[in-house]
Amino acid sequence: MKKPTLDLTPLTVPDLLCTSALTTNDIGRVFAVAKELKHNRTVHTELLRNKRLAMIFEKDSLRTRFTFDVGMQDLGGSAVFMDHRDARLGSRESVKDVAKNLERWVHGIVARTFKHKALEELASHAGIPVINGLSDFVHPCQALSDFFTMTEKWGDVRGRTLTYVGDGNNTCHALIHTAVKLGTHIRVCSPEGYEPNSRVVNEAMRVALDTGAEVTILNDPDAAAEGADAIYTDVWASMGQEDEIEERNGIFAAYQVDEEMMARANKSALFMHCLPAHRGWEVTQEVMDGPQSVVYDIAENRLHVQKALLALLIR
Ligand code: CP
Ligand code: NVA
Repeated sequence: MKKPTLDLTPLTVPDLLCTSALTTNDIGRVFAVAKELKHNRTVHTELLRNKRLAMIFEKDSLRTRFTFDVGMQDLGGSAVFMDHRDARLGSRESVKDVAKNLERWVHGIVARTFKHKALEELASHAGIPVINGLSDFVHPCQALSDFFTMTEKWGDVRGRTLTYVGDGNNTCHALIHTAVKLGTHIRVCSPEGYEPNSRVVNEAMRVALDTGAEVTILNDPDAAAEGADAIYTDVWASMGQEDEIEERNGIFAAYQVDEEMMARANKSALFMHCLPAHRGWEVTQEVMDGPQSVVYDIAENRLHVQKALLALLIR
């Protein structure tokens, strides 16, 4: 049987640092390739034959690390992992020199960094694609997998309402950026002082004017959940904020996603979380392990979506 053809013409960007840099069409193309790779996983095994990926991680990871490594193997390539938790990018030698070395050996870089600026610097010096595996600012691979999953569940995400409850963090920023590109209404509900970055919100509101999305920032969890098609949460203290955990657990207590909150949303609303999750804190065990939870579908889709990104970005 003939292999189904994939449209692998390059995206409008050479790197994936932030979904705000992608066009709506780029995102659609990533989803189309991801869908094909998901449904024919054992067919497209040569797309990245002999290609090598460097993975530089300054922070812990289960999903991102495994899915990029397995993804490269699925496509006929391989990945080399560098654990940089104790020595941040740029501390032993300049970020520029890291980029200039890596580009001589490998065909792409995935980096998980504390500072988003380090990623931008890496990308500016490397003549190979750089993919953001999470920074303090955004988590684009996560948001693409989240929206790919919503597309699978609903067919079309346009006009749907996604409510994010919790810290206005990297995951939240990536969801906002992506939602407005796709015409999904996004409500973000955080305690006062923990709202998303205002530049992200303002830029999203501008994009939303063209796509028909609505961006709502609020502090009242009841209002935020009302009639939503999906409720999303993330940890209250992200990696690097460990010394704030106790304080945050108090501040965020009223923002836990529980059955009562889910009952305010649409009857068939999805529960979403990027993981790792803390049952009993940002989400109750009942919701996390309940019938509306799609958390493991999202985790699975990290693999398919990132394979699509690798196939579209690496030359
Ligand atoms: N969601 C996510 O990025 O998981 P990891 O931190 O385990 O990679
Ligand atoms: N906001 C979380 C996401 C983990 C995948 C963090 O940065 O730790």
